Amino acid sequence: MKILFAPMEGVAHYQYRSAQIACFRPADEYFLPFISPRNNTFSHRELQDVLPENNLGAPAIPQLLANDSKCFLWAAGELAQMGYREVNLNLGCPSGTVVSKHKGAGQLADVTALKEFLTEIFLHCPLSISLKTRLGMKDPGEFEPLLQLYSQFPLARLIVHPRVREDYYREPVRMEGFRQALAQIQGTLCYNGDLFTAQRLHDFQDEWPQVQQVMCGRGFLLHPGLMELWDGTGTETPERLRQFHDRLMENYQRDIGNATFVLCKMKEVWTWLGVGQNVSAKAMKRIRKADGYSRYNEAVAGAFEEMGG
Ligand SMILES: Cc1cc2nc3c(=O)[nH]c(=O)nc-3n(C[C@H](O)[C@H](O)[C@H](O)COP(=O)(O)O)c2cc1C
Repeated sequence: MKILFAPMEGVAHYQYRSAQIACFRPADEYFLPFISPRNNTFSHRELQDVLPENNLGAPAIPQLLANDSKCFLWAAGELAQMGYREVNLNLGCPSGTVVSKHKGAGQLADVTALKEFLTEIFLHCPLSISLKTRLGMKDPGEFEPLLQLYSQFPLARLIVHPRVREDYYREPVRMEGFRQALAQIQGTLCYNGDLFTAQRLHDFQDEWPQVQQVMCGRGFLLHPGLMELWDGTGTETPERLRQFHDRLMENYQRDIGNATFVLCKMKEVWTWLGVGQNVSAKAMKRIRKADGYSRYNEAVAGAFEEMGG
């Protein structure tokens, strides 16, 4: 079974991915956080994240958030010139600001418009296209016509996150939706949702032996060593987590510079890492409250000490 690293905007940018790749067994493929091109341009931040020189060490697949075929095709053309072979379309983002523009999960509400859009991009795109979809906006019954639509296109793969938009990331996954996709989709189908630990990955494999690809997002944020925990080749020792932490911080310091912003990024990483590693509420509070590198470093040393490092 292949394990794919999920796109996670705001968290898993190249500074994060490259630190994870350097310190732990890499995932099989990395889906990059969405880029949302406007007026035929990428922002500086978007460009940095997709540049091949910032994506060494593991296969990377860029993702687009777009409902305008010209805009999508322009961006795909740029990505093709960079050497990419596959582009992923985001049909799942539940955020209000995205959905209100009929993008992400918002595109699932109008199957006719989505058909027009997909027809156009599949006709002219220089890259193969994969889709990352939810079951619908409000009701899992919306998935049937969507699956019928997806079956009409030569998808590189279909990644299914079996929740509707209104479930956000909180409500339980709806496995009957995934089962439906399995019955109807001929090509590669990838499951995504709530596979947070090695144990859950093993349980999933036992229950769905026919599924060849799964995508993990928050699991990697909780456990950057998830690949090794899953295949049994390594563990997340405090020393390795410390190495990962230091590498990540160096990457942010190099690219962001400003200490307040760097610490803001690091504290966000800790909100996940702290849960995954059972860091005490007291140690987490010290990290959260730390202003300046010196207090932050002391707080982090305390957290690693707690882990036994
Ligand atoms: C902080 C964060 C950012 C995300 N950004 C994206 C994104 O850019 N594109 C996307 O398709 N999904 C995005 N997602 C959704 C994840 O890719 C994934 O579908 C979701 O977290 C469910 O998988 P998981 O249970 O393994 O985390 C994001 C999720 C989180 C938590």
